[in-house]
Amino acid sequence: MAEPTPETLNRVLWKIPNVLCLIGSRSGDEWNGMTQSWVTQVAMEPVLVAISVDASAVTNRLIREGGSFSINLWDREDTRPFVKFSKPAIKDGMTLNDRAVREGVTGAPIFEEAVAYLECTVWQTIECGSHDVFLGEVVDAGFQTDDDDPEVARMEDTRMKYGGVKRGGH
Ligand SMILES: Cc1cc2nc3c(=O)[nH]c(=O)nc-3n(C[C@H](O)[C@H](O)[C@H](O)COP(=O)(O)O)c2cc1C
Repeated sequence: MAEPTPETLNRVLWKIPNVLCLIGSRSGDEWNGMTQSWVTQVAMEPVLVAISVDASAVTNRLIREGGSFSINLWDREDTRPFVKFSKPAIKDGMTLNDRAVREGVTGAPIFEEAVAYLECTVWQTIECGSHDVFLGEVVDAGFQTDDDDPEVARMEDTRMKYGGVKRGGH
């Protein structure tokens, strides 16, 4: 059977719908926020959510050291932060890239502007080559908007792409 070309792989993989959100992580005085699209619930009991984070990302090290992370879901109308948070964030007081954060129950940063958030402790880490999958047990969650059913940002709301094959396609 012929192998799919990198181009076909990319085009098919990019068809998978994904959220776009910010991952909050922290180890001691080091805090970060990072643009993330690979997020999904993977179990109900316990309630586990998986995120897959580049092995070389600052966020990866902070999650390993800190043992927790937050998932910050963003207003669908405001996709501006996602470009800026694809590089390590600058912390100034209780802000990351000028966006206010507070300390969650695990110590990980929660963005005040997030319309909804989940906070997780690392339940298991699975090394997957280029990325590590962190299975997080949800320890806190909430909404931070008056809208009782907010729409959250998705990859399709932007012209950005993530994933596919490492070389040959993009
Ligand atoms: C639209 C978009 C989606 C992304 N999704 C992910 C993702 O799911 N996992 C990941 O490891 N990096 C993802 N990234 C890349 C990280 O945001 C980027 O590599 C970041 O620089 C690494 O974070 P750091 O600040 O922790 O080093 C994405 C980037 C963009 C622009």
